Amino acid sequence: MSTTSQAADNTKAAATASVLMARNLNKEVTSGERILTILEGLSLDVVAGESVAILGSSGAGKSTLLSLLAGLDTPSGGELEMFGQSLAALDEDGRARLRAGRVGFVFQNFQLLPTLTALENVLLPQELTDSGMNSSRGREWLERVGLVERMHHLPKQLSGGEQQRVAIARAFVTEPDLVFADEPTGNLDRDTGQRIADLLFGLNRASGTTLVLVTHDLTLANRCDRQLTLEHGRLHERQPTEAGL
Ligand SMILES: Nc1ncnc2c1ncn2[C@@H]1O[C@H](COP(=O)(O)OP(=O)(O)O)[C@@H](O)[C@H]1O
Ligand SMILES: [Mg+2]
Repeated sequence: MSTTSQAADNTKAAATASVLMARNLNKEVTSGERILTILEGLSLDVVAGESVAILGSSGAGKSTLLSLLAGLDTPSGGELEMFGQSLAALDEDGRARLRAGRVGFVFQNFQLLPTLTALENVLLPQELTDSGMNSSRGREWLERVGLVERMHHLPKQLSGGEQQRVAIARAFVTEPDLVFADEPTGNLDRDTGQRIADLLFGLNRASGTTLVLVTHDLTLANRCDRQLTLEHGRLHERQPTEAGL
């Protein structure tokens, strides 16, 4: 086999590799005396390089689903795999190792460490991996999100939208295979939101980064390969809107 066709085969294999698999996923939480079912019988398959938008009304369980898929929370029932590895078979440390350097997460409430500057927050995931401190990379990502002049500011000195962009730079700095983002443009004006969306899809195109985005922003959702709506604890295919409004 020639090198060229081998490379083509590898690309094809990578393009169909399972990144996320959920089967019959359930999540129940107790709220006072009551048991609240958030997810019930949910299934999802995401392959490498795909971009998937998850829509749904407030309280539908989108943030809960993202935490489960990322292995940050545990389901009440069902099966979950990330990169073909069962999450139930791993303890918390094992799940953290599986994510390290390969998974970026943009939380709905950003979750920046309050005592660290913007740059230090962006560099955190690199410290967790073996690549060590690499402040030029952190600076580069802050530049890409348009915040390099704020790099020595603490989170409390930044607006909500600026904190969101720091969180995005932090999720991207390791150039992960998979990015989860919970309403990544929720606090941004239209132009900044567009710039962030361009970054997300630029990574998706250039590096094959798989994107799983929770969003109310239909312009962002329409740029994804697939759109799913979370309703009554399950995901349903949503037809992309033409206008993108
Ligand atoms: N740990 C928890 N304990 C009790 N209720 C929870 C917990 N986590 C989420 N919920 C509830 O589950 C529902 C789904 O929450 P969430 O996943 O944040 O929804 P979304 O992100 O779609 O707005 C909400 O009604 C929320 O209040
Ligand atoms: Mg949410």
